[in-house]
Amino acid sequence: MIIEHPTSADLLLAAQFLKAGKLVAFPTETVYGLGADAENEQAVNLIFDAKGRPKDHPLIVHIPDMDAAAHFTCNIPDYAYALMKQFWPGALTLILQKRPGLANASSGHQNTLGLRMPSHPMALELLVMAKTLGVLGVAAPSANRFGRVSPTQAFHVAEELGDDVLILNGGASQIGIESTIIDCSRGEPILLRPGQLSLERMEHALDLTIHQQLIDGNIDTSMSKSFNTPAPKVSGRMLAHYAPKAKVLLLERQALEHNLSSYLSVSKGRIAVWSTTPLVLDPQRFLYQAMPRKAEACAHELFSTLRDFDKAGVDQIWIEQPPCTEDWQGVNDRLKRASHAQ
Ligand code: TXA
Ligand code: MG
Repeated sequence: MIIEHPTSADLLLAAQFLKAGKLVAFPTETVYGLGADAENEQAVNLIFDAKGRPKDHPLIVHIPDMDAAAHFTCNIPDYAYALMKQFWPGALTLILQKRPGLANASSGHQNTLGLRMPSHPMALELLVMAKTLGVLGVAAPSANRFGRVSPTQAFHVAEELGDDVLILNGGASQIGIESTIIDCSRGEPILLRPGQLSLERMEHALDLTIHQQLIDGNIDTSMSKSFNTPAPKVSGRMLAHYAPKAKVLLLERQALEHNLSSYLSVSKGRIAVWSTTPLVLDPQRFLYQAMPRKAEACAHELFSTLRDFDKAGVDQIWIEQPPCTEDWQGVNDRLKRASHAQ
C-alpha cells in the first residue's frame, strides 16, 4: 500500500511497524529502500525473502545520527569520522568494524557493517521516530527484486514488491543512483561502489588518497588507482546487476548511430535508444529518449528510463556510452552492470 503525502502520524505508524518487526519501504535521496529493524533477525530475514536476495549478502543500516554509529560499530578510524562530519547526512555509506554480537543478519554474518545517514527529510524523520521506539538502525537495501533495477519512485516499489508492503511516497529520488560506498574497516579508505559523490571531493575533505577496489574486479579501468589486499567477502556487487528485462547495449555515439539503421533493416525487433543526439526512425519499431549531457541529470533519470523502456516492451535498449571522466563514474558503473546482465 502506498501512503501518499505521509504525515507525521503516518511516519509514526511506519516506525511502529518497524518496531513490530514488519517491513517499511521508504524514500531516500539515492533510491527507495526496503527497511526493517536492523537488530531484529526475523524482520531482517523478511527483507531477504521479499527481495529474493541471498542471506549472506550484507545490507546497509540507516541511522538517524552519528551516535548510532558508535552503537553498531567499533574502532572507527579518524578518517571515517571526518567523512561522516563532512558528508552525513548524505549519499555515503561507510563500512566499519561491527560490534560483535550485534546486527548479525543485517551484516550477512560478516564482522563489518555498512552505515549510512540519509539526507531525505522523510527518511530522517522516520529514523528519528524509530529511535524513540528503540529501533536504533534500519537495515535497508534498495527496494527491488534481487539483481533488478533500483526503484526511484514509490510506484516502482509497488511494481517490484507488490501492494502488501507499506510504502511511504516521498517523491522521485533526487540523486537516482545508490550511495557511494567507502570501506573504512581495512586500514586505509577504499572505494567499493561509486556514486554521485566524487572521489576528488572526498579526498580533498580527508587530505588522503582513497584507493579503489570495485568488487568483482576493477571494472572501471578508466581509474588508475587500485588496492591489493583481499576484498571483503560479499556476494554483492555482481558484474551483472541493475538488469532491465530487455537486452542492454552500451555503444559509442558514432557506432550507435551507424549500426542503428542496419540493425532495424535486418531484425524485426523493437529498439529503444537513450542518447544525446536526437534520432528519428520508424515509431513502430523505435523509441527515442534524450540522454542528459550532465552526469547528475543522467543519474537522476537512469533507472526510471530503463523501467520505461521495459514497460514499452522493447527487445533491446541501446545506450550511448557517456564520457569516462570521474563525474560519470557512478553512472558508468551502473551502465556497465546493466549491459553485462544478459
Ligand atoms: O543508496 C543506497 O545505498 C541504497 C539506499 C536504500 O540507502 N541502498 C542500497 O542497498 O543500495 P543495497 O543493499 O542495494 O546495496 C548495498 C551494497 C551491496 O553491494 C553490499 O554488498 C554492500 O552494500 N555492503 C553492505 N554491507 C557491506 C559490508 N559489510 N561489506 C562490504 N560491502 C557491503
Ligand atoms: Mg540494490
